[in-house]
Amino acid sequence: MAGLASIRRNGHKIEIVNQLLLPHTVEFIPITSIEEAHDAIKSMKIRGAPAIGSLAALAVASDLGRALESAPAPSFLESPQALKEYIQPKLDYLYTARPTAVNLGGATRRLANALQSGINAAKDAKTIARDLIAEGQAIDDEDVSRNKAMAKWGGEWLVDQVKQKGGSGKELNVMTVCNTGSLATSGYGTALGLITYLHETGHLQNAYFTQSTPYHQGSRLTAFELQSLQIPSVMLCDSMVGSLFQHNNIAGIAVGADRIARNGDTANKVGTYNAAVLAARHGIPFIVVAPVSTVDLDIADGSSIPIEHRPPLEACLVRGALFPFSENAEGTRAQATVMVTPEGLTGVYNPSFDVTPAELITAIVTEKGVAIKEKGQTSFDLSKVV
Ligand code: MRU
Repeated sequence: MAGLASIRRNGHKIEIVNQLLLPHTVEFIPITSIEEAHDAIKSMKIRGAPAIGSLAALAVASDLGRALESAPAPSFLESPQALKEYIQPKLDYLYTARPTAVNLGGATRRLANALQSGINAAKDAKTIARDLIAEGQAIDDEDVSRNKAMAKWGGEWLVDQVKQKGGSGKELNVMTVCNTGSLATSGYGTALGLITYLHETGHLQNAYFTQSTPYHQGSRLTAFELQSLQIPSVMLCDSMVGSLFQHNNIAGIAVGADRIARNGDTANKVGTYNAAVLAARHGIPFIVVAPVSTVDLDIADGSSIPIEHRPPLEACLVRGALFPFSENAEGTRAQATVMVTPEGLTGVYNPSFDVTPAELITAIVTEKGVAIKEKGQTSFDLSKVV
């Protein structure tokens, strides 16, 4: 069974599921402009590194698709230079929506490169626009098959590790952080893809997932996806990871990534680093699962990864369905946002991501395979998996 898709496409029309309302309300909202795409990414109506890259690319493709169909054609389709002057600022603007996930910059850079190649090849503006549409759609399309590939690589690797230590490779308990499933990607997921693969191949006992506060990607989104996929799962609060590792047989931790530096240092949802420190203490394999497009070879190590800090207010609020459940006039569950801190609290530390040093990571899995560190090394050579 496929999970809920974060983006729906029909010709040049795009809709996204409003992740702020999940899991109690499944509402698709149309994205009809670059500005709406920027706002949806910034406000986290759509989130997850690959998904925001896909939306940015599709928003540009759909903007150009509408332009090509309109009569009279807009003036920016009259010359390649005019097209560049129209599109480049839009790419730059989309890129500013969120800073940490490299996929957003990767998607906008790919479109900028396609634009420049068209200009260099002396193509006319309409042909370049059509090339950009194809490139934008390819960015979204490529995601699902590469997720399936990395899920298989990582799943088989973990089963093998367990067998090497004398285990059967069956009934594995695997923990994850945040949400890395079909809502965070174009389908199947990265770390959640690995867990899905283990379930589909009969190797999984339970998927454990942290709530991932303050945005609750775990308790709202991963819980929802695992339920729809009928994968046995157990939620824990972020502060319970140490306890889980002390009292349960956890075969591995699989997490996604927003940006992986050349040495393997990995930025991912805040709380990932805590889990990695505890995993090292307990000798549990810690696996990062992410597409090649999440690896930023321009950055030597994690110290140069820009970390997004979200508005303080977001850490003071919790949104959800009123409980006991009640239906509102539209027949949907009434939702509310409540403040859980005293009014006027100003001192709030709210980084959205943290960086896990390569030293604490056992394996980095991409669609090309599994990288592990050479014996005695604290960083990865990622050249074989990028
Ligand atoms: O702030 P978010 O929800 O966009 O953060 C998402 C994560 O940290 C994910 O783990 C990461 O983007 C990988 S998604 C396949």
